[in-house]
Amino acid sequence: MIGWLSRWWGGGPPAVEAASLRDAARLAQLHGASFHRGWGEGEFEAMLTERNTLVHRLRQGRKVIGFAVSRMAADEAEILSIAIDSNQRGRGLSRDLLLTHLGHLAGRGVRTIFLEVEENNQPARRLYEKAGFGVIGRRERYYKQPGGEHLNALLMRRDLS
Ligand SMILES: CC(C)(COP(=O)(O)OP(=O)(O)OC[C@H]1O[C@@H](n2cnc3c(N)ncnc32)[C@H](O)[C@@H]1OP(=O)(O)O)[C@@H](O)C(=O)NCCC(=O)NCCS
Repeated sequence: MIGWLSRWWGGGPPAVEAASLRDAARLAQLHGASFHRGWGEGEFEAMLTERNTLVHRLRQGRKVIGFAVSRMAADEAEILSIAIDSNQRGRGLSRDLLLTHLGHLAGRGVRTIFLEVEENNQPARRLYEKAGFGVIGRRERYYKQPGGEHLNALLMRRDLS
């Protein structure tokens, strides 16, 4: 009984699911802990209600531990953000999240996906490269850091067949 309860609360295999408005606060928390300019709960609420935005959550037990957000326009989409709870990184969890997210984009008729990633963000670059994205451009000094430093962005693309 205790084993079942603990699996239900915090364990079991992670599941990738459509996010709902009830997730907005948790997604904002995860985003804020992952990026310098965090998106607020209101921004997530807006994205979760927009028809052209696709948001997936990664849930383990009762806890949401990651998310992916894309914006669609005709047969193209841009991945706006993806993040995993810092305590859960390095376990390969983002791959299933990303691939499931891409599958849903394909199901919505998306044929080409773009994203921007900071050049030195090795975990993200590795994730995207292994998921079939290729570098198509580089933007010098694109991201301004809180300390005033500027970092380069890579523009990546993947075609869905
Ligand atoms: C990017 C992110 C989503 C990856 O999630 P994750 O579940 O921890 O990723 P994984 O455990 O699958 O690791 C991804 C790859 O990066 C590698 N990696 C992890 N940490 C690394 C590091 N410090 N240096 C180099 N490679 C690293 C892993 O080995 C793995 O490669 P592999 O599949 O060849 O073994 C997660 O790090 C995160 O949330 N980062 C903060 C938000 C962010 O930067 N999002 C991307 C914005 S574009």
